[in-house]
Amino acid sequence: MAATIISGKDVSAEIREELKERAARLKEKGHAPGLAVVLVGEDPASVSYVTAKGKAAEEIGIFETTIRMPGDSSEEEILRQVDDLNRDDRYDGFLVQLPLPRYVNAGKVINLISPDKDVDGFHPVNVGKMLRGEPCPLPCTPYGVVQLLVRGGYGPDGKHVVVCGRSNIVGKPLAAMLIQKRKGANATVTVCHTATPDLRRFTLQADILVAAMGVPRAIKADMVPDGCVVIDVGVNRVPDAAAAKGFRLVGDVDFEPIKEKASAITPVPGGVGPMTVTMLMMNTIEAAERKAGLIS
Ligand code: GUN
Repeated sequence: MAATIISGKDVSAEIREELKERAARLKEKGHAPGLAVVLVGEDPASVSYVTAKGKAAEEIGIFETTIRMPGDSSEEEILRQVDDLNRDDRYDGFLVQLPLPRYVNAGKVINLISPDKDVDGFHPVNVGKMLRGEPCPLPCTPYGVVQLLVRGGYGPDGKHVVVCGRSNIVGKPLAAMLIQKRKGANATVTVCHTATPDLRRFTLQADILVAAMGVPRAIKADMVPDGCVVIDVGVNRVPDAAAAKGFRLVGDVDFEPIKEKASAITPVPGGVGPMTVTMLMMNTIEAAERKAGLIS
């Protein structure tokens, strides 16, 4: 039987309705939530992500500013912008869209962001808190994966989750979130990566398989056990002369054959993608609520 499609659009819409109410409550109390997004250069994928973030903020009632900096901005100029935003009370949170130009030390930029305003959850202080299970902004894409599972009715508690990919943005933080001792986590987690021999031996043991390698259609049907829940984090642009933009998006999962085997699967686009933006909005609202003293 074909898999249930887990819609990131539907789960996102549900969360965004909740966030609209929280934004309205903050405004009533005189704490309008604010978000700034710094974009350096004009990488097309980054422009598209940043545009989606601005639209989502507007829809929810978050005051948003996109700060566009030239592609040849120096590290010092970017650090100065971060410093300005740390001090600017209009913004409860901000982020610097990655990747940055090669000559910029992204670690140095992230380290300068005030942990209270770090709505990406990338600052080492927040990474440490996440690992220890303390309240903190959680990195948006893995946070979105967890919300998709929990709200989609595929809670990870007691399940074996196999994560393919060990990036700082997805694989590592997702594993850290899923092993926490609390409801909506409590998973047994295996993390596979480029140095894993015989990947299939591990993926075949998954109750929940998360593909986050950034390699188009790397997960094939013979790597997926019957009845598995498959979450595809991949967003890969592949050339397509028939498409208006000259490319189309494919995930890290070979979707068509796998949907005949899995019990549930996320599509690309329309799966994890919208969740990433929604969780950024969640982190912004939470940062505003914390600043307003509404939550600890
Ligand atoms: N580039 C790709 N994903 C992300 C993200 O979640 N945050 C930022 N700042 N840049 C990204």
